[in-house]
Amino acid sequence: MHVIHLSVECFPLAKVGGLADVVGALPRYQRKSGVDAWVVSPFYDKPFTKDRKFQLIHAGTFVQGGETLAYEVLKEKKDPLGFPLYLIRIPGKLDREEVYCYPDEAEQWIAFQHAFLRWVTDAGIIPDVVNCHDHHVGLIPFLMKHAVDFNQLADVKTLFTIHNGQYQGWMTWDKGALLPAFDTWKWGLLDWDGLINPFAAAVKCCDAFSTVSEGYLQELFVQANGLEGLFQTEAYKGVGIVNGIDDEYWNPELDNQISKTYKKSSVKSGKKSNKKAFCDAVGLNSNLPLLAFIGRFAQEKGADLLPAIISNIFSRLEDKICIFILGSGDEAVETTLKELQDQYPRRLATFIGYNEQLAHQVYASADLLLMPSRVEPCGLNQLYALKYGTIPIVHAVGGLKDTVIDLEEQGGYGFLFAAAEPEAAVESVARAVNTLTDASMLQKVRQKAMSLDFSWDKSANKYIQLYDQL
Ligand code: GLC
Repeated sequence: MHVIHLSVECFPLAKVGGLADVVGALPRYQRKSGVDAWVVSPFYDKPFTKDRKFQLIHAGTFVQGGETLAYEVLKEKKDPLGFPLYLIRIPGKLDREEVYCYPDEAEQWIAFQHAFLRWVTDAGIIPDVVNCHDHHVGLIPFLMKHAVDFNQLADVKTLFTIHNGQYQGWMTWDKGALLPAFDTWKWGLLDWDGLINPFAAAVKCCDAFSTVSEGYLQELFVQANGLEGLFQTEAYKGVGIVNGIDDEYWNPELDNQISKTYKKSSVKSGKKSNKKAFCDAVGLNSNLPLLAFIGRFAQEKGADLLPAIISNIFSRLEDKICIFILGSGDEAVETTLKELQDQYPRRLATFIGYNEQLAHQVYASADLLLMPSRVEPCGLNQLYALKYGTIPIVHAVGGLKDTVIDLEEQGGYGFLFAAAEPEAAVESVARAVNTLTDASMLQKVRQKAMSLDFSWDKSANKYIQLYDQL
């Protein structure tokens, strides 16, 4: 079976969030099960592409809104990521330093999708399934069925995987002129409330859609930023498949980015020595429990709650805890965190930005990981944390609810709170600190967490079963 994953993020080429981690790992696990899985991404001007030598596989042109655009398809000779990664380069559009936030994003992603279709059509590549990830490539299921030039692909099956329904890629209808020519009778499939909505178009036109957890699928029927009705109508083709993790890369036994590797039997000393090195480096007191947050400072991640949570924790738990925050985004949150850091030296440290190595060190060093997300389609951080014996404290939502089981209430390995509010989060942090001051309990929970299997093997096969059904 031949499957092409289409995504604008893929680790380690380009990572903004969990989408990159999934697309950078899932295909490798699918290949282990005999599926010929490829990834096609935009080319970026990033260290990954600068450090490597690519071969030109194909070149061509297409017309976008009256302008002729030239594209190239590039690939490394060997497949160092464990799957073939094809990069589409279009000078001026798909050769940039960042993934998002350019004013011409609609033009960029339309060009990416058009170039992909032009390439596979001209090269006679007919996969069995095209697996599109998120709205950036949401026009593909529509275009494969209804674009006049690509009817060779009309019978190829499409799976639309939803990592994040908060972003839908809306654009005004004047952008319709940039699309490849399509059967105009079908324009309604692109439309939602008077705008072109690539996310909605994908849900309407795909053969199946998947969400990255079962819990999130259920939530979309009730709250989907105006698309609840659409999800209810299309429910018959929706499947929830929880994400896995790349357990070779996120593995304290093999991790060369942390100061000391450790396994389940050595978790106590391993975490202790990582924590000492980490806390010394960031100026925290390593004798206290360490609570961490890693993530984008976005509303959906509950990052705006962090300042209130931190102040409440320090007033309630006095000298009992240290906090480390790694992330960036909302400037108001960044500023308040810096102020709080001045107010609580040696108790609160922050790193504004994203740093992959630091993230590994945080998982290896922290005792607790807080995720107050309002919306969490799956969440990978809690899974990474568990793998490193770090106990997650999470809002019971989406994939967090599916993957974290409460220690006290259900004999699990984490702490859940019912509302994305500071009081509820702080209550759970206090509960965790109290419970885990018992050293033998802490050891037991850490070992339980590290024994869980969240590797991709199971979920990669669920995708394959779904492809088979299509
Ligand atoms: C998005 C979601 C996150 C999910 C990730 C990978 O970043 O917000 O919950 O884990 O995609 O699917």
